[in-house]
Amino acid sequence: MNLTQKILKKHLVEGELVKGHEIAIKIDQTLTQDSTGTMAYLELEALGVDKVKTELSVAYVDHNMLQEGFENADDHKYIQTVAAKHGIYFSRPGNGICHQVHLERFGKPGKTLLGSDSHTPTGGGIGMLAIGAGGLDVALAMAGEPYRLVMPEVINVRLTGKLKPWVSSKDIILELLRRLTVKGGVGKVFEYTGDGVATLSVPERATITNMGAELGATTSIFPSDFRTYEFLKAQKREDDFEALLPDDDAEYDGVIEINLDELEPMVALPHSPDNVIKVKDAGKLKVDQVAIGSCTNSSYMDMMKVAAILKGGLIAEGVSLVISPGSRQVLNMLAKNGALSDMISAGARILETACGPCIGMGQAPATNAISLRTFNRNFYGRCGTKSAKVYLVSPEVAAASALAGYLIDPRELGEEIKIEMPSEFLVNDNMIIKPPVNADEFDVVRGPNIKPFPINTPLADIEKAVLIKVGDDITTDHIMPSNAKLLPLRSNIPELSKHCFETIDPDFSKRALENGGGIIVGGNNYGQGSSREHAALAPLQLGVKAVIAKSFARIHKANLINSGILPLTFVSEDDYDKIDEGDVLKIEDAVNQVKSKGKIVVKNVTKGYEFEVDLDVSDRNREILIEGGLINYVRKKDKV
Ligand code: F3S
Repeated sequence: MNLTQKILKKHLVEGELVKGHEIAIKIDQTLTQDSTGTMAYLELEALGVDKVKTELSVAYVDHNMLQEGFENADDHKYIQTVAAKHGIYFSRPGNGICHQVHLERFGKPGKTLLGSDSHTPTGGGIGMLAIGAGGLDVALAMAGEPYRLVMPEVINVRLTGKLKPWVSSKDIILELLRRLTVKGGVGKVFEYTGDGVATLSVPERATITNMGAELGATTSIFPSDFRTYEFLKAQKREDDFEALLPDDDAEYDGVIEINLDELEPMVALPHSPDNVIKVKDAGKLKVDQVAIGSCTNSSYMDMMKVAAILKGGLIAEGVSLVISPGSRQVLNMLAKNGALSDMISAGARILETACGPCIGMGQAPATNAISLRTFNRNFYGRCGTKSAKVYLVSPEVAAASALAGYLIDPRELGEEIKIEMPSEFLVNDNMIIKPPVNADEFDVVRGPNIKPFPINTPLADIEKAVLIKVGDDITTDHIMPSNAKLLPLRSNIPELSKHCFETIDPDFSKRALENGGGIIVGGNNYGQGSSREHAALAPLQLGVKAVIAKSFARIHKANLINSGILPLTFVSEDDYDKIDEGDVLKIEDAVNQVKSKGKIVVKNVTKGYEFEVDLDVSDRNREILIEGGLINYVRKKDKV
């Protein structure tokens, strides 16, 4: 067996490990962050669960740290108190980015982790099977329900050789994105093997598994070996180590070879993480902003490389350099060893240990600016400035370019700076609040920003207008933007939904309400990107009953199902071309059509023709859709 199969087999509750079959697996650990966490905990409460049934659940606060009004502080308080009440660890604001802290303090090889954040696969760097999901799926996992997924293909990424000086693990995943595109990982797990694996430390591996999310992959995983032991020991957690390797004769559904010796520094051009070329081929590009950090590249070793490059230098006059270390552990170590001083001396602006600019929380670049970022996404508008162009690079490229004032290949700096994994990290968990033993005595504090979330009605026949027709690769950022103005509304769906699709169609929510709801028509890979279920809940609030697309991204499709919104795909893509915004579409006998498992007939009432769509979901998901979403289904079946 391969490693993925081994972990799945150990956690299998239902189904068979046969590609394409639905399986249900036991979840050992969960994580949430504040942007998706408020909703996940409202859902946990709606399920009527007293105590979480996982081995470990952690609530992080890392996304929205700006407190310009009461809203965020209220949300943080709600998360802290609901966590205490339900037996969940609470990582306080300032303790760091969820994935970085989880890797440092909680991740265990061989365990399953479900997180309400699309970059949860970061945990694959330590040999976990770590999957991103919507908040409701995570709430159900906390309630002890197994997590259901379609058995993915397992692709072996065989790494050979060793990275050359100034080439980093970021360049490995950028190379994979270049080859496979943002759609290349859908329905797949990427399992890394080969002699190149041993040359990579856990934080380097985690950069790769983190950004495997941009391939659309279910997850990515590295074996647990002596490098894993070395990391856990340095975190004073060697007892959590377990060696885990695929069998020598393990079988895979495909093989990809990457020779690390041949890689060079890479850059993803705007506005997609797969728009990758070599840095040396990008031409002389003047840079206005450099942002270093995010869950992809904010480890201690990343930061030490950056500090070493900046040491003794001064950032170019035209550049604004912002650095957000990934965790308080990292920041504290940089402070103690003087590296922080090297960064500050060079002119860097040090931000909190949080997501910050990655999610558009501050540091929006100037109009038409060029921003180099070590992050994982460069979708249009995500940085907060629509006219800005974001380029994704490694920490080495970012730091070298901040000094130069233009994008440079760090090999121009000469001899490589060597950073070794420390034998001991600075461990101090006093910003992690353990669940209290007397949880019953705690009250959950609900400020006025905590509003009930929408719940759908059972499926009925649909006759609704097409509210919007969009193209390929629409992201959840397009559907439900996330920025400093909107993040505080994440626990207030009625208010948030007014901003649905606003970056591409400012009148969408008004039109949806005037029409009494409707249907969305999308292209390929609809709903890629962040796991936020708000991208399904806001349309639900506005009365959207179905999305008809050429294809869907995995997590968003699951979120639509959980919300009771039909995720339908065109049988013939020609039908996509025939539909216009405003056309009224009709699905008659909807319940029986969904039950029948055959093609679903849709009538275009406006243009007077019929076409067919597929509903490619499991039997259980059909029942969920008929009940009007997962909460209704669970309540009805008394599953919890
Ligand atoms: Fe945060 Fe950006 Fe990662 S929002 S969790 S740093 S993708």
